[in-house]
Amino acid sequence: MKISYFGHSTFMVEINEKKILFDPFISHNPLAQEARIDANSINADYILISHGHSDHIADAVSIATRTGAKVVANWEIHEWLQKQGVQNTHPMNTGGKWTFEGFTVHCTVAQHSSGLPDGSYGGNPMGFVITSEEGNFYYSGDTALTWDMQLIPMLYPSLDFALMPIGDNFTMNYDHAVIASDFIKCNTIVGLHFDTFGFIVIDHEAAKKAFSDKGKTLFLPKAGMNFSIEKS
Ligand code: NI
Ligand code: MN
Repeated sequence: MKISYFGHSTFMVEINEKKILFDPFISHNPLAQEARIDANSINADYILISHGHSDHIADAVSIATRTGAKVVANWEIHEWLQKQGVQNTHPMNTGGKWTFEGFTVHCTVAQHSSGLPDGSYGGNPMGFVITSEEGNFYYSGDTALTWDMQLIPMLYPSLDFALMPIGDNFTMNYDHAVIASDFIKCNTIVGLHFDTFGFIVIDHEAAKKAFSDKGKTLFLPKAGMNFSIEKS
């Protein structure tokens, strides 16, 4: 599976030749700006939004409007996007699943908050398990370590990798993410939500060691990086 990382929690995965963009935050994302990534150059077929905070939704309206991508989000964010003029949306909510073109989105519990940038109610935050013939992965969204993660391996096919926040302060830290990786039974983790702002700067070597000490792999992508993770 081909993955592109744009800094913070913004990444794109290609499945079935469809570009699926997660939590677009580029124009005001210091990591994306440092890597000279232009939101206007990003094409997407789908945009998935985990929750309403601006560091996950700031470029969603402009990219959706320009590309016509279908935006998948919870009910309240769907309604808010419609008010911003984004018509191609698909509302979902925690616990539900829907099959799009060659991939299925399962919405999971995230332990966080979700207010929208203008103060509108943003519903509940979510994570996503994506399943497809090309592989399965979990994107937790912004979340604390939570017991609910233990449901994931009971409900969904085995995961090839997972993307989780590790920056602390607003979300779990890397030590918690090691425990989360046990809960979800997945040993290949891509770290997100780190180094963007002063509150979430991490020690890379210590983070990687926390995972390698348990026989797991933590990958810390740089904004602008393209990589692929093979189906295991
Ligand atoms: Ni957040
Ligand atoms: Mn966030």
